[in-house]
Amino acid sequence: MDFVQKGEHQPIQLSQDRSIRWIRKVLRPAATVFILALLWTLQYYRDNITGFSGHESPTDEGFKWESITPSKQLIYHPCHGEYQCARLEVPMDWNRTDGQGATVAIAMIRLPAKVLVTDVRYGGPVIVNPGGPGGSGVSLVLKEGKDIQKTVDFQTSPDNSEVQSSAKYFDVVSFDPRGVNNTTPPFSCFANPETRRMWKLQSDTEGNLDSSDASFNNLWARAIAFGETCSLHGASASELEWIGRFMNTPPVVADMVELVERHAEWREKETSRLLRNGVQVSKQKQRDIQLRNKWQRGEEKLLYWGFSYGSVLGATFAAMQPGRIHRLVVDGVCDSRDYYAGNWLKNLQDADSTLQKFFEYCHEAGPESCPLALDNLHATTAVYYDILADVASNPVAVPESMTRGPDIITYSDVHAMVIQSLYSPMALFPTMARLLADLSHRNGSSFADFKAKNLKATHEPGYNPEALSGVLCADGKDIHGIAKGEYREYWKTLRNQSQAVGDEWATVRLPCAGWHVRPNWAFDGSFVQNTSHPLLFIGNSYDPVTPIRNAVTMSSGFSDSVVLQQDSLGHCSTAAPSKCTANFVRLYFQTGELPPLGTICEVDERPFGLPGV
Ligand SMILES: *[C@@H]1O[C@H](CO)[C@@H](O)[C@H](O)[C@H]1NC(C)=O
Ligand SMILES: *[C@@H]1O[C@H](CO)[C@@H](O)[C@H](O)[C@H]1NC(C)=O
Ligand SMILES: *[C@@H]1O[C@H](CO)[C@@H](O)[C@H](O)[C@H]1NC(C)=O
Ligand SMILES: *[C@@H]1O[C@H](CO)[C@@H](O)[C@H](O)[C@H]1NC(C)=O
Ligand SMILES: *[C@@H]1O[C@H](CO)[C@@H](O)[C@H](O)[C@H]1NC(C)=O
Repeated sequence: MDFVQKGEHQPIQLSQDRSIRWIRKVLRPAATVFILALLWTLQYYRDNITGFSGHESPTDEGFKWESITPSKQLIYHPCHGEYQCARLEVPMDWNRTDGQGATVAIAMIRLPAKVLVTDVRYGGPVIVNPGGPGGSGVSLVLKEGKDIQKTVDFQTSPDNSEVQSSAKYFDVVSFDPRGVNNTTPPFSCFANPETRRMWKLQSDTEGNLDSSDASFNNLWARAIAFGETCSLHGASASELEWIGRFMNTPPVVADMVELVERHAEWREKETSRLLRNGVQVSKQKQRDIQLRNKWQRGEEKLLYWGFSYGSVLGATFAAMQPGRIHRLVVDGVCDSRDYYAGNWLKNLQDADSTLQKFFEYCHEAGPESCPLALDNLHATTAVYYDILADVASNPVAVPESMTRGPDIITYSDVHAMVIQSLYSPMALFPTMARLLADLSHRNGSSFADFKAKNLKATHEPGYNPEALSGVLCADGKDIHGIAKGEYREYWKTLRNQSQAVGDEWATVRLPCAGWHVRPNWAFDGSFVQNTSHPLLFIGNSYDPVTPIRNAVTMSSGFSDSVVLQQDSLGHCSTAAPSKCTANFVRLYFQTGELPPLGTICEVDERPFGLPGV
């Protein structure tokens, strides 16, 4: 694990500032996602005690996606050190039969398997998706690909002479979905990054829907302006083939089918190449290898691990292509029916109890590890609500520091930070406790540092929060023109579901109120299917946005599928370290075997350094 951020030179004064150094340590990985765009994404806040340790993305100044010419066949090019990148050309409109229309170049990345494709232990590509929607798969593989590979691969190195031939070693592969990051053409609602950043800052200043009497009205108007703008960009596109109509989930499923097929084509070719140039094996053995690696046109199957919105993508794939499932894990399970209905009403059922766990663990850990802890649980909880009430009427003023300008800490800021922490309790509960403890003395400097760090995400290459709306508004049923009063009622319903997350959650589909682009190809199927291999659903006992009950609901539609419950907090199983979960995921990828029905996995460790159960 890599603690030092390579290639990043900090000014001297920064490393002398203890609080900053401490924040940097906790928030080490670079992908600090801001609150509205993170809502359904696998988060990258990791440290050495979470399930996944996370890595700095290897920087590769020399590599440019534009240097790759998109092609219909999968051609991998070296990139970012040991990784390989490709741009796969697919039709923008899968329904067009004349082969004439516009194309999309899907940016793909591969962390190669630890064995060559000619090795009998080569397991194929495990395709991963980080969620969002709108999350970058390329970024996920660069940051977490190695951890994912470690989880799915056979435990011991292929060089070990005792490894049996049934062991499997996998590529980890992902892609930037349509409209996202390095995939072209881009989807954008802003003329340039500066306008986008300005818009984001202004929206942040407005706070959440509940921050003042005016906030609902203001955010409503902003959402309409934003939604209309994104739609206008489509209307002004001269041709009918504008990416905004082709970036919802069904065409992405078609892209994945293409990806799986083209990878198989590549595997066959790569096999011939290696056999031509490589080691001496008998003619008979060569024929066996070639036969095993032959491209089974039209019949190649998927290996997949999807997180969060990636569970919608996975479930949709399984619903549309039930015969193409070899392995499919969905982790942090959304209720796909609710998602396609555009309701977002099946997310917050466990949100407030996750927050309650923060207080319990804080109290259990005591003031040494949790500076917010008081004599009893009730008092600890009360401090939090006192802080909220206090900052609601009196935001905390924070003077500038060496590393950032002056700022204020508002009621909305506290809510946003809490939600972020509920996603990744292992990494962020200690931060949350510290920030709240400081705020209880009306000291907001550590909090302002936290905000400044978050804001850095807006400078990340490929930063594009509108892709989220572009996908989810198109997937969900049309709510363009919904009455403001009706939306207000909807907001109340979500607030009633969760005090902690409801206000933020009600803004997820808000831009859809002004969105009048409809997708060319909508998903209208059911989530009841007999799949060629049973699916594995994973949910946490306390997940703030994808409650475990969704895993149970979704599993009931897919034949012989199993729900694995991880008895932890946080969003997706990777939010907490559990050897038990990792072993079941590995077993599934290695052999196809599912956990016994009713399996509950304990964790190795809990937040605040508390021991596992
Ligand atoms: C596109 O094709 C799929 C099947 O390939 C079909 O289900 C869908 O209805 C088609 N959509 C349109 C708009 O023709
Ligand atoms: C505010 O808290 C930070 C630690 O987070 C500390 O370094 C700083 O001295 C405090 N400021 C004041 C005015 O107490
Ligand atoms: C876009 O992809 C690049 C790698 O090509 C990655 O470094 C960057 O973090 C990604 N951007 C986002 C917003 O995910
Ligand atoms: C709020 O939630 C409670 C308990 O779930 C429910 O009984 C009540 O009808 C809800 N109220 C509204 C306005 O949705
Ligand atoms: C799944 O298989 C069962 C039995 O083989 C059959 O009764 C059922 O109709 C199938 N379901 C679907 C959705 O194809």
